[in-house]
Amino acid sequence: MSATSLEFPENFLWGAATAAYQIEGAAREDGRQDSIWDVFARKPGAVADAHNGDVACDHYHRYKQDVALMRELNLKAYRFSTSWARCMPDGVTPNPDGIRFYSSLVDELLAAGITPWLTLYHWDLPQALEDQGGWANRETAERFADFAEVMHEALGSRVRIWTTLNEPWCSAFLGYAAGVHAPGRTEPAAALAAAHHLLLGHGLAAQRLRARDPEADIGITLNLNVVDPVDPANAGDLDAARRLDGQFNRIFLDPLFRGGYPADVLADVAHLGFAGIIREGDLDVIAEPIDLLGVNYYHGEAVTKTPPAPEAAPPSPFVAADGAHAVPRGLPVTGMGWEVQPDGLRRLLNRVQQEYTGPAGIPIYITENGASYEDVPDAAGFVDDQNRLAFLDAHLRALHAALADGVDVRGYLAWSLMDNFEWAYGYYQRFGLVRVDYGSQQRIPKASGLWYAGVVRQNALTAAPGLQPA
Ligand code: FCB
Repeated sequence: MSATSLEFPENFLWGAATAAYQIEGAAREDGRQDSIWDVFARKPGAVADAHNGDVACDHYHRYKQDVALMRELNLKAYRFSTSWARCMPDGVTPNPDGIRFYSSLVDELLAAGITPWLTLYHWDLPQALEDQGGWANRETAERFADFAEVMHEALGSRVRIWTTLNEPWCSAFLGYAAGVHAPGRTEPAAALAAAHHLLLGHGLAAQRLRARDPEADIGITLNLNVVDPVDPANAGDLDAARRLDGQFNRIFLDPLFRGGYPADVLADVAHLGFAGIIREGDLDVIAEPIDLLGVNYYHGEAVTKTPPAPEAAPPSPFVAADGAHAVPRGLPVTGMGWEVQPDGLRRLLNRVQQEYTGPAGIPIYITENGASYEDVPDAAGFVDDQNRLAFLDAHLRALHAALADGVDVRGYLAWSLMDNFEWAYGYYQRFGLVRVDYGSQQRIPKASGLWYAGVVRQNALTAAPGLQPA
């Protein structure tokens, strides 16, 4: 290895991630019923390009080919999610035909030498449970723990890493407050109830998994953000940063690691009756010790209260923003319009370890990081995505700097293995290391994918990003 390369620790877990509804398709096969995303995506205007996950990447039928692809990319781990509506279509009754798919997938991964990393819930609640109130209904937390148990019964001997929830912030606040994600509700009080019940469901599921399998690695994945005041000397900007950090990061981190919601957040949202939904004992359940924290990082945010956000703004995911809003600060942006801020990852990792995971000695994994750009394939379908490659390279350098700072990061899972159904943006936004031609379902690794395969093989970043063949 050359002196200028940045080496990663031995056994650093390199991989890529996907989610069930974004790639599987086969929406009506083998007993699967609607999830909230099936129903939401059918609503006019809900998804930018009027598509849905009915076919997606047809991974349900092509998983063997996709595992072979992972092998070509040298992946050591693959993070996927299990569709609750496939495995328990009405939310409560196990469906062996649906569960069998994940059993086959796990066998295929293990045969390829790839560690399966299972996420139980990546946003696709069975519609049958939404019809009973969804995550705003406390019962859903109990049903989720039952789901965890059913999946562990089927896969526990072969899957050793279990993530309960992916990004509960999105489920609760994009789904129930802003209404831009399924189930498309714009009810701030319900969003707060959903956040609490998601955390409760996490805790109950973690307890059940732990009781069945003390040796498993159990965790949760949060999308965390770096929230900076535009002017650190301006009281309004400081309050904006405090509020949004509270309603984005601390509302989840504090109960998970400190056993209680932050006092300032409780005060901000008091008018929405949040305290009334928290029952005695809930916070102990939520603080059930975990073995790892998954962090998804995409971008940072500069926030202010000046000038006040327009009153006619669409419903916000922030239920008590008090005029706080993000403003662009002139950084380059991805196809999603998200600011590229690699240094934010280093700062975030240091903060999370210092304030939350460090005292408990819990390792962090990056469970998602990546970028959407407008890909232009050549005649052969190859995408020379130097922009995505540079994004990944810059974030891996920031991660490496965090390691040098002493942060215990054990792995990195790129989002995403392949282009897929990007929720409200449909198929227009592409995050893949591998291009998917949705007409032919052909998969072709992009320049970033070939480069990433080289990084994994060398367990190092070289001085010249993009110039190392796999
Ligand atoms: C994350 C989601 C993932 C994908 C990326 C771009 O919030 O977990 O499914 O949509 O964003």
